[in-house]
Amino acid sequence: MLKATLKASEAGLARIKQARAERGWTIDNPCWLVEASQVLKPNDTWDEYQSFFADGISHSTWGRFLSGKQRIKPDAFKAYCQILGLPWEEIVDRNNSSPNSIDWGDAPDISYFCDRTEELSELEERIVHQHCRLIALVGVGGIGKSALAVKLIQQIEKDFQYIIWRSIGSTLSLSDLINNILTSLPQPDSPYNNTEPISQLIQSFHTYRCLLVLDRSELILQEGTLTGYYREEYEYYGELVRRIASERHQSCLILIGREAPRDIRLLEQANSSVRSFSLKGLSQAAAENILRANGLLEEPSWQNLIQLYRASPFNLKMISRVILQLFGGSAAKFLRENTLVLGDIGPILEQQFRRLSKLEQDVMYQLAIPDLAISRSQIRSQLVSSVAMSELIEALDSLKQRSLIETSLEGEEDLFTLQSVMKKYVRRRYCL
Ligand SMILES: Nc1ncnc2c1ncn2[C@@H]1O[C@H](COP(=O)(O)OP(=O)(O)OP(=O)(O)O)[C@@H](O)[C@H]1O
Ligand SMILES: [Mg+2]
Repeated sequence: MLKATLKASEAGLARIKQARAERGWTIDNPCWLVEASQVLKPNDTWDEYQSFFADGISHSTWGRFLSGKQRIKPDAFKAYCQILGLPWEEIVDRNNSSPNSIDWGDAPDISYFCDRTEELSELEERIVHQHCRLIALVGVGGIGKSALAVKLIQQIEKDFQYIIWRSIGSTLSLSDLINNILTSLPQPDSPYNNTEPISQLIQSFHTYRCLLVLDRSELILQEGTLTGYYREEYEYYGELVRRIASERHQSCLILIGREAPRDIRLLEQANSSVRSFSLKGLSQAAAENILRANGLLEEPSWQNLIQLYRASPFNLKMISRVILQLFGGSAAKFLRENTLVLGDIGPILEQQFRRLSKLEQDVMYQLAIPDLAISRSQIRSQLVSSVAMSELIEALDSLKQRSLIETSLEGEEDLFTLQSVMKKYVRRRYCL
């Protein structure tokens, strides 16, 4: 377990400087390290010629202690204060407004990022100003959820003491995952009240302001059913989600995924500390920036290309590569072929399609046949096996939550269709 790290306050730094001057040794004199090591390990022999000192004692931690810019382990902090004859309680900075640590786990490294200004400011408002305890960030594969969350963390990191990112798929059980997360958090001042991992996590969430990001949340949800039901072995996640949403603490969980657990919608209705965000495509300007950055020729036809590929950053990067290699970088030339290339988007769509219930798949099939949008009753009349309207509505609602269908209103009638990339994929899958 980590313990909270410490640094000196402004006033503490002034006292450290004075105490150091009174001792008369230069900053890099190893005698400081020898004395601090003797405080921590009085029974060992320490001298200035050795290269290793007691745990946490080194030229670099001494430098960090003196500069007061970065935090060091508490044992080392206290030892350095002691050798200067200073009570550490009067030296330490008790203002925890800057983050102690960011544990990025397997978060993606984002070197190039465009726009999303509105989404970032809305998320910041919810998390930093309204103190939401649970945010679900949902959207189709490749739309930019993980990248947005990385940017968000960079923007709001100062508001948190501990920030931890984990991808759910990389850990088997929730208790393993929580135990792993707890190793990146300090032990609370008082011992844990409970041995149960969720309770321990919530106790830490109460003591410290933490931001926990759990990516790929769709992996805890069932395949082959309507969206949002926990897989049997992951039901326990439901308890984590419910407790983080409803218990009192000062932290926030961001759940990222192609689908969100069903109970988030219920919690959202009952609780203003819970919000879900459905991430859509990029703005026109940001999408154009991606095409530009990928070396395409500047053309008016960009607008059509962006629409065709749903302004999804992943899709746009993929098609830019194809256009650059086979069409001399001209989107207009590619569009003249009057086709839509799926390339690397295909496997992502396949993963999402496989997760659908049988009825959802049948509805997708019916929506892929016509060129235009069709109504609920048209879909129902064309389904091979008869279904109750209520079942069809549930399936459409589930598909909408997965962002796989598009809806519009014509007069009094609701119409449904597939976005062009998805339509292409379903047509190809069923050889339509
Ligand atoms: N705003 C952006 N500007 C530039 N590139 C972006 C932006 N958002 C995402 N990307 C890039 O698009 C690709 C897909 O983004 P990302 O991995 O965040 O999608 P995702 O929604 O998390 O997908 P998945 O569901 O597969 O995890 C990545 O290469 C990412 O760097
Ligand atoms: Mg992702």
